[in-house]
Amino acid sequence: MKNIDSYTHTRGESIYVDDLPILGGTLFAAIFDSPIAHGKITKLDVAQTRLLAGVKHVITHENIPGENQIGGIFPDEPALADDAVHFRGQPVAIVLATSKKIAHEALKTIVFEADPLPIIVDPRVAAAAGEIIGSVRTFKLGDMAKGWKECAHIYEGQADCNGQEHLYIEGQGAYAFPVENDCIRIVSSTQGPTQVQRGIARVLGVPMHKVEVDVRRLGGGFGGKEDQATPFAVLAALGAYLSKKPVKLVLDRDEDMRMTGKRHPYTADFKIGLDENYKIIAYEADFFQNAGAAADLSPAVLERTLFHATNAYFVPNTCLTATSCRTNLPPNTAFRGFGGPQGKYVIESAITMAAEALAIDRAVIQKVNLLKEGDEFPYGQITEGCEAEKTWHQAEVDYEIEATRKRVAAFNASHKNLKKGLAFMPICFGISFTNTPMNHARALVHIYQDGSVGVSTGAVEMGQGVNTKMVQIAAQNFALAPEKIKLETTNTTRVANTSPTAASAGADLNGQALQIACAAILLRLRTFVQKEFKVAHLEAVNLHNEWVYVDGEKTDWSWETLVTNAFVARIQLSEKGHYATPRVNFDKTTGKGHPFAYHVYGTSITEVTVDCVRGIYEFDAVNIVHDFGQSMNKGIDRGQVEGGLVQGMGWVTMEDLRYNEEGRLLSSALSTYKVPDIFSVPKEINVKFLETNHSNLAILKSKAVGEPPLMYGIGAHFAITDAIKAFNPKAIGLFESPMTHERVLMALYKD
Ligand code: MTE
Ligand code: HPA
Ligand code: MOS
Repeated sequence: MKNIDSYTHTRGESIYVDDLPILGGTLFAAIFDSPIAHGKITKLDVAQTRLLAGVKHVITHENIPGENQIGGIFPDEPALADDAVHFRGQPVAIVLATSKKIAHEALKTIVFEADPLPIIVDPRVAAAAGEIIGSVRTFKLGDMAKGWKECAHIYEGQADCNGQEHLYIEGQGAYAFPVENDCIRIVSSTQGPTQVQRGIARVLGVPMHKVEVDVRRLGGGFGGKEDQATPFAVLAALGAYLSKKPVKLVLDRDEDMRMTGKRHPYTADFKIGLDENYKIIAYEADFFQNAGAAADLSPAVLERTLFHATNAYFVPNTCLTATSCRTNLPPNTAFRGFGGPQGKYVIESAITMAAEALAIDRAVIQKVNLLKEGDEFPYGQITEGCEAEKTWHQAEVDYEIEATRKRVAAFNASHKNLKKGLAFMPICFGISFTNTPMNHARALVHIYQDGSVGVSTGAVEMGQGVNTKMVQIAAQNFALAPEKIKLETTNTTRVANTSPTAASAGADLNGQALQIACAAILLRLRTFVQKEFKVAHLEAVNLHNEWVYVDGEKTDWSWETLVTNAFVARIQLSEKGHYATPRVNFDKTTGKGHPFAYHVYGTSITEVTVDCVRGIYEFDAVNIVHDFGQSMNKGIDRGQVEGGLVQGMGWVTMEDLRYNEEGRLLSSALSTYKVPDIFSVPKEINVKFLETNHSNLAILKSKAVGEPPLMYGIGAHFAITDAIKAFNPKAIGLFESPMTHERVLMALYKD
């Protein structure tokens, strides 16, 4: 089935926040954000600003009616700065004016003075200074002392990976409308409608039922709108509440890049030990996460780094430690993979270091350590339906690895200034929110009198195709054509208490809830037919192709007749469904449990050609075998794999996020922050579907696909370093990502 949005997308008719018709009286908001990274505010004077023509309100923390707090996990982040600022880009005041231009011009008249405080941008410096968010976390398996003794080879090193700008095409934004009795209705570009609702209720000091959040779709989220859509929605709502006028706040690209947090940069120390057969016997890693100035989702991201620190490998003795470090950068946040990519990058670096020291192909070490059925993860869960080895082997066979290796070796032998590199990247990613209480969802289904169907769920469409999957589920359950199903907006008054659409679990959680709702209505309808047609057994009543069948025979009742008759007979045609993932649990104090409903596996092989004169490179191919379970929509799922892969490749190759010592974002525009475009994507991306049929908790056995493929991109880093080594054997230990052209050039001529 085609993506239900393709028609309006390709015609430019899909509606985003900035496309909503402007209501009369609307005020436009602009944010005055901190020009310094750390300081105690000594003066904030908005008196002149308030007098400007066209300016209707200037709002500071003093005008907040409720609690000046938007922190989700820890209450450590004000909606508007009060006595101090902690990062450049932190919202300090908002101006509401009759046009966006007037609002922005007015910002220049705000007088802001502050006594500077020390600025920390480096996570290791922050940790040494005791600037830690939450507690230091540890996951342990086996016996380290015993493990190290059994090792024939032990290596220690450091690996660093950078952050990443989300660069959703639609920037952060919201449009808030005042409703009678101090209520607010708001359209927000958020992955978490309930997070927005709760945030607004808290800052306005009203109960949650006074706030209605509505989401049609997002022009991309990638985790950047799981938590960080909330502050901007809160500011728009605050404006509407105080002014009693509709307030629209949509960030420009430069504001969005400056004010919002990104993927967390990490720096880590590792130690890896192998036996004579290259089995990893012990692995220790100590992660320092650059959290930025407030917790945001950092503690949860940090935890997922630990969950994925051993990637798709079994390591019997593991000790993993992680610290979330408070720095004076915008609070970093969720980004596709949610800390997992950073954890995987470090063990891939450790394996590469061992391979370099042992002068063997890193694939040799990777292959012998792949997870097997029944292996234990450092967090206590046991693998079930493990596909690590299967995807690896199938990649070797399908993509003719021996021939490829020979071709690459021959190329390298015959070329002086062009070198090819190869890298395998196996992945294993756990599906579920690691915070168990978040793993439930609701759906609401109405069948209207004419037989058309309206479906609401808690899932947010952000380009990943979840709404199309929801239509498929309803259509399949009712045996209807997809055109009979309408996917409603995600709205907190129709579906309450939603978890954000995140953790790749959107389709699983909401799809199961939807199935439960559909099944309940269907049962009522079939029971009604049984009675009307005086059929002995309910099993004899079925629906096919929008028609009622009894004992396999077509009746004279169409779907429409059935619905109309059922309605006249006063049968309830609406239903809600609630689904809570069974089995999942995790004890944060012991670091043990069964946090994931299941795991997604896969293997990629990346081939690159490096121009050793210029330091530039081109990706010849990325060949993937991915574990989809039984894909319910191959077009959408393939798109997720290709998009995730390229986004991950961008992270480790060209996306060069830079802050200076003053905490100022240097890569603050698309001229200085480069993302993959059509010229830098691999010449070939092949995706083979490993179809597996294990009983698992995936919706219709179609495994979650949103985040895992991003981690195939990590292979790009190690393919490049493989090629560099073919040119300059001294260029080893390259564990600093991204491998920009500059960094590649330096490595090629390093001695
Ligand atoms: N795909 C597109 N096109 N746009 C996005 O913003 N977000 C990713 C992934 N794929 C994203 C995307 C992230 S971070 C997650 S968690 C999942 O989609 C969320 O959707 P799902 O749970 O329905 O897979
Ligand atoms: N993944 C993604 N987002 C989340 C998670 C998670 O495990 N927990 C809270 N938000
Ligand atoms: Mo995705 S990072 O879980 O929104």
